[in-house]
Amino acid sequence: MTTRKEKIIIGNLKMNGSLDFYSSYFNDVKENLKNLNNVLIGLCVPYPYLFKAEEILKNSNIGWGSQNVAKFLSGAYTGEVSAGMLKDFLSLYVIVGHSERNTAYCESDENIADKFKIIKDQGMMPILCVGETLIEREAGIMETVVESQLKAIIERYGAKTFDDTIIAYEPIWAIGSDMAATPAQTNKMCKFIRNKINKNITNEVKNLKIIYGGSVNTKNALQLFALESVDGGLIGRASLDVSEFVSICKAATSVTKK
Ligand code: 13P
Repeated sequence: MTTRKEKIIIGNLKMNGSLDFYSSYFNDVKENLKNLNNVLIGLCVPYPYLFKAEEILKNSNIGWGSQNVAKFLSGAYTGEVSAGMLKDFLSLYVIVGHSERNTAYCESDENIADKFKIIKDQGMMPILCVGETLIEREAGIMETVVESQLKAIIERYGAKTFDDTIIAYEPIWAIGSDMAATPAQTNKMCKFIRNKINKNITNEVKNLKIIYGGSVNTKNALQLFALESVDGGLIGRASLDVSEFVSICKAATSVTKK
């Protein structure tokens, strides 16, 4: 069980790398981060490399996982990968609802909610991505958009289903753009998310991490992670470079210790 204060950094490697790349990448990350305390670290990699993650990262302080999962447990679903299969490789984290999947594969809110539940039921930790487009932000409806993304899960499974989970606030306009959200925008939305989830329940959700993703790099990491309502980061491009990823993890430790 993690504490609220402990930051968490997740690398989303997306559809990058190769067997050669991951063989050295996992070793390098493991070696460089072996003495880092007060920060949880996870790497979400393409399915075929989970076995390498297990082989190299087991018995280290780094967890691993995938970027998607099937919404069914097993059966005639050609091309899908089940939560049980992910567990065969000791996966801990599963990203769900990433905007790149929602756009390319028309992932519905209902699908995302069912996947979120299956990941939890199978004892893994979902990383739910929420966030608005630039048009929605400019129209001032970003909170309404994020609220409806959260509602899709709350209405189906209740707010307490967010116990022991991670929500990543990833404004779509900030992903892959070199235009990260400002600290003020990030803090406000992360606070909004926590308040919305806790709004109608008597006992606050336990161990919910709310992290930020979208053009996090070595220059802005410290400022973003120091924010009171931000529990860490979901890192895309910068996670592909070992030294950048290591620096970002170190930035998270430095603010945790304060
Ligand atoms: P970038 O850090 O490359 O902007 O990607 C963010 C992201 O999509 C993480 O899930």
